[in-house]
Amino acid sequence: MSAAIHIGNIKKSIGKREILRGIAFDVYPGDIFGYLGPNGAGKTTTIRIILGLLQADSGEVNVLGQDIRRADTRMKIGFALDPDGLYNNMTAFENLKFYADIYNAADIEKRIEKVAGLVGLADRLDDTVGSYSKGMRQRLSLARAMVHDPEVLILDEPTAGVDPTGQIEIRKILLDIARVEKKTVLLSSHNLDEVQRICNRIALIDQGEIKLYGKLADLRQKMGKSAIAVETKDVITEPVLEQLQAQKQIGFQGVKGSTLLFDSGEEAAEVSDIVGFLAGLGVKIERVGKREASLEDLYANILEEAEKK
Ligand SMILES: Nc1ncnc2c1ncn2[C@@H]1O[C@H](COP(=O)(O)OP(=O)(O)OP(=O)(O)O)[C@@H](O)[C@H]1O
Ligand SMILES: [Mg+2]
Repeated sequence: MSAAIHIGNIKKSIGKREILRGIAFDVYPGDIFGYLGPNGAGKTTTIRIILGLLQADSGEVNVLGQDIRRADTRMKIGFALDPDGLYNNMTAFENLKFYADIYNAADIEKRIEKVAGLVGLADRLDDTVGSYSKGMRQRLSLARAMVHDPEVLILDEPTAGVDPTGQIEIRKILLDIARVEKKTVLLSSHNLDEVQRICNRIALIDQGEIKLYGKLADLRQKMGKSAIAVETKDVITEPVLEQLQAQKQIGFQGVKGSTLLFDSGEEAAEVSDIVGFLAGLGVKIERVGKREASLEDLYANILEEAEKK
């Protein structure tokens, strides 16, 4: 399958600083691709290069197999950046129409109704954008990105500045856009939980380098360990920790706050044995559950590794 977005060995320096040190990844048709990284990692710089708003020093970029500087390529891309570029003194409808006109979109009024419906703003089209909440603005920029019915959507932090409920709404909209509208989506985020919820593939960038790249499922596998999590009522004391570490067959992994983690899986100890052992040590148990390894752990590990180098 040929890539919807291809990025090959992009380098970019600003002044003497190397902002991107050879970035490469491919986004495939139908992906919701998460471009993950902490503040200042280089996400926006990469996105600006993909959109042709910034010129890379070297490397290749193409979208749908075509040079991004071609007008017909641009027609197939929708994007939303920060700042959102919406006009406060214009209504949502006027904002959408303004962009639809630029793109020479067909059947403009119908299309505006459609995209406004997709983002849940159909009944707010006549309000001026200055009166919109941040969540509504983000949804309107999404609608604007879709107004000319592009194949590929490129979104820089689409849920930034939005409260948790609003973030859930936006994620749901993104999933609908990808599945129902059949768009390929590249989104940047520093929110691991978000990426884990909606993306099927990711690239993790830190300090201008890709540290991880692949399917979310593969990455989860690479992260390996899910665990049996035993929440306790008490603070775990040193002597208890020593006993847990000494008893190899119960597979003690470590402690996080007041939660003890044990290996899970076929080779691991039975939950009843773990609970029995803890009871024997006088540990009061609040709850026992399963904890899936999170991208967050992986992220922390990788950044830690990088720091050690
Ligand atoms: N025009 C510029 N001049 C100088 N440095 C810049 C410029 N644009 C970006 N940088 C630097 O490049 C690095 C990457 O910035 P970029 O905005 O791409 O990061 P980001 O991953 O989008 O971060 P954030 O999560 O904060 O949005 C940062 O260290 C930033 O300070
Ligand atoms: Mg950014």
